[in-house]
Amino acid sequence: MNICVVGTGYVGLVTGTCLAEIGHCVICVDNDKQKIQTLNTGKMPIFEPDLEKLVHQNRKRGNLSFSEDLGQGARKSEVIFICVGTPPLENGEADLSPVEKVTREIAVAADSYKLVVEKSTVPVQTGEYIYRTLQIYCREENGRFDVASNPEFLREGSAVADFFHPDRIVIGVNNRQTEAILHQIYQPILERGFSCPVHSSCSSFPKPYFLVTDIKSAELIKHASNSFLAAKISFINAIAEICEKVGADVQKVAEGMGLDPRIGKEFLKAGLGFGGFCFPKDLQAFVRIAEKVGYDFTLMKEVERINKARIDVAVEKLRKKLWVLREKTIAFLGLAFKPQTDDLRFAPAIGLIRRLRQEGCNIRAFDPQAMEKAVIEIPEIFYGANPYEVAAGAEALVLATEWPEFLDLDWLKMHRAMARPFILDGRNFLNRPLLMEVGFEYEGMGR
Ligand code: UGA
Repeated sequence: MNICVVGTGYVGLVTGTCLAEIGHCVICVDNDKQKIQTLNTGKMPIFEPDLEKLVHQNRKRGNLSFSEDLGQGARKSEVIFICVGTPPLENGEADLSPVEKVTREIAVAADSYKLVVEKSTVPVQTGEYIYRTLQIYCREENGRFDVASNPEFLREGSAVADFFHPDRIVIGVNNRQTEAILHQIYQPILERGFSCPVHSSCSSFPKPYFLVTDIKSAELIKHASNSFLAAKISFINAIAEICEKVGADVQKVAEGMGLDPRIGKEFLKAGLGFGGFCFPKDLQAFVRIAEKVGYDFTLMKEVERINKARIDVAVEKLRKKLWVLREKTIAFLGLAFKPQTDDLRFAPAIGLIRRLRQEGCNIRAFDPQAMEKAVIEIPEIFYGANPYEVAAGAEALVLATEWPEFLDLDWLKMHRAMARPFILDGRNFLNRPLLMEVGFEYEGMGR
């Protein structure tokens, strides 16, 4: 099928590339000229495991291309996925102007039937606005439209693998024809009719569930899912606070809770809290959506408050240990909001570094992937070429992102490099007994 994907951020680029991989002919469009140039020269604007390889393969095969021309992309395609950003406005609401602009452009360009699929995370009822806008701005006699919602559940860092093995594919539609088109698009994934480019054997992955709903319910499923996961994280972080007060271990509490299948063990890792461009902004947007329809979502406001307070907890732990923070040198391992990505948006590490800078600390930092972006985000700190370099002379070391390679460091060498061997493990990730054996003072979150 001929498909146009509008927006080449994490969602758009991964979706477009993977749709090409399962046999569709995809044009990815973006109004960011530089990004399109980068992609057309074979370079990646983001780091995402397996993505680069698939982009190369499918460009070579001729079923994936990149363009700035939305009109042309829309005319050539029967299905158009809207994957543009919905950044937060000052009041927490999602800025829908990019979605609205793209919708108008599609309407103006359309000269035949188009199925417009919203994949960007949008407030409930956006589908109705999209449909109305398409009708109003379409001037061609043959322009006809359907609108569908197809929320995205990809996780950064494993987005490509998630695309090929989703738990569920949710589509919100208002007629059978739309459902049939979307089913056809995803058929290779639903039937496992593709050779997986990520795993050598996929037999352990169950086939995904194909859930068909009305458009508004599909839109709500996205917000409700992200908010629920964020609530799980804040819940365990609240438990972590109690654990510290009574001398219990949050890791053990989470393990005990997670053994109940009704609770599940995922998303019960206490630490510096959640970051990234999804949970923090989606949560705020959901609170605003609820407010607009007359519901005071205090539960979610509390989830947000608990999450923000994790940075204060970390600052206070450092203050307690180091006595005075001013002029102390603090080393950071990990800057990205989670491992396997170079994304720094709303990363807890960045929030914590900013706070410590205000306290007068000197910061030395290292991240395996996010350094290039970090230098632009916080130019005033020192960036080391490796963990040993950032540890040199530090009076505390904060593990802020759980990159697996940090487990295998030469911790004796790290110990020798530091002026004071204190570790604040912001993700309860490192091997505590080993570090203590080496001679570190170790502090976790909630244990
Ligand atoms: C999240 C959702 O997991 C995806 O399903 C969704 O599609 C995506 O948002 C989106 O809306 O686009 P993502 O932001 O990539 O995906 O990352 P997660 O793996 O969900 O992690 C989010 C944050 O929570 C990270 O900072 C992570 O460190 C933190 N986290 C996660 C915890 O602090 N504790 C946990 O137990 C799990």
